[in-house]
Amino acid sequence: MKSIIITGGAGFIGSHVVRLFVNKYPEYRIINLDKLTYAGNLANLKDIENKPNYTFVKADICDFDTILSLMKQYEVDGIIHLAAESHVDRSIKDPFTFAKTNVIGTLSLLQAARLYWESLPEQYEGKRFYHISTDEVYGALEMTHPEGIEPPFKTTASSTDHHLAYGTDFFYETNKYNPHSPYSASKASSDHFVRAFHDTYSMPTIVTNCSNNYGPYQFPEKLIPLFINNIRHHKPLPVYGKGENVRDWLYVEDHARAIDTIFHNGKIAETYNIGGFNEWKNIDLIKVLIRTVDRALGNEEGASEKLITYVTDRAGHDLRYAIDSTKLQKELGWEPSLQFEEGIAMTVEWYLSNQEWMDNITSGEYENYYNEMYKNR
Ligand code: NAD
Ligand code: DAU
Repeated sequence: MKSIIITGGAGFIGSHVVRLFVNKYPEYRIINLDKLTYAGNLANLKDIENKPNYTFVKADICDFDTILSLMKQYEVDGIIHLAAESHVDRSIKDPFTFAKTNVIGTLSLLQAARLYWESLPEQYEGKRFYHISTDEVYGALEMTHPEGIEPPFKTTASSTDHHLAYGTDFFYETNKYNPHSPYSASKASSDHFVRAFHDTYSMPTIVTNCSNNYGPYQFPEKLIPLFINNIRHHKPLPVYGKGENVRDWLYVEDHARAIDTIFHNGKIAETYNIGGFNEWKNIDLIKVLIRTVDRALGNEEGASEKLITYVTDRAGHDLRYAIDSTKLQKELGWEPSLQFEEGIAMTVEWYLSNQEWMDNITSGEYENYYNEMYKNR
């Protein structure tokens, strides 16, 4: 039996990974380790909470002693590490919390795993430390395009025919790190620690860097759930700057499937980029989102465009992210399962039929935070 700690399992992506592993691998013991910060919510895992192969432990990844004793207690063979502070805007306000959780927390997990695994007769054999990171560590890409061709243009630079790109360059696994926000700087630092534990102690590590995820259970401070909820409440939709920044969007369950594939079949010490070749300018995505929500709510399509409010840009706002995931597709056979319009329709439908989930999160403390955050924009 494999015993696996998944950190951050009551957050957005982590809950999808926990659900996938608990349902797909009844022979594994899945320990969801989460501190339950503002972003962690056990309601995200209601459907699997009573499964016999699932255990929830409320703990802080920075608490080295507790992590070490959990490693021993559950005889852990694998760690899939997602726990983190994840919102760029919060990192601009409070960088220390990001350094603590993302850097020190990751280091404390690595050190606990090392001490426990090195104490076993088989040492690192059959063990795995899989660190989930972000494409933001690579920095920002330009919007360059071939002469005479306006973006988005069809590119042959990647493995996907459908790829419409906003630039000629992409994030590859070999790119140098160049983070700009305190969030991405903290994730970059944690990635370096993970690789250092492989190079120094021979720990079997893997790092993946994924693009923007969307789908059910995302905390509504992030663009897509925030805007769906604001449209429902006829609240302003705060578009940063001119809305021209480009992000590369992947449905969260496709990310969870990639994590499953890589955890089981990825090569030790490798890095894999995960992304759906799905670049969108924010303002274009927002208009698709508005049309989809209006349709679902029975409004005239596009009526909610009047809620669009251009606000002060995010400090250091990265212009464009675009992942090349050819390596993952070619070496491990993973590919995204959904077209974006399909994924967005499913996502809108989920948020509108789970309004209680949304209302529980957005009432009280978060509402005050949100109002404070947007007061001066
Ligand atoms: P999230 O903010 O929704 O969830 C983070 C989870 O970590 C929460 O459950 C929170 O309670 C937990 N956590 C925070 N600090 C903790 C601590 N000290 N100890 C234990 N648990 C703690 O985040 P997400 O969007 O699901 O992202 C998950 C991971 O994936 C992060 O590492 C993030 O950097 C990475 N990632 C996210 C995206 C994205 O688009 N959301 C894309 C690529 C990579
Ligand atoms: O690229 C992967 C990253 O994607 C992850 O590592 C992060 O954890 C995740 O939060 C996400 O980062 P972004 O900053 O790209 O996501 P966010 O949803 O905050 O913003 C998406 C884009 O929309 C970005 O260009 C900023 C813009 N935006 C965002 C918000 C919240 C707005 O214009 N208005 C908003 O209110």
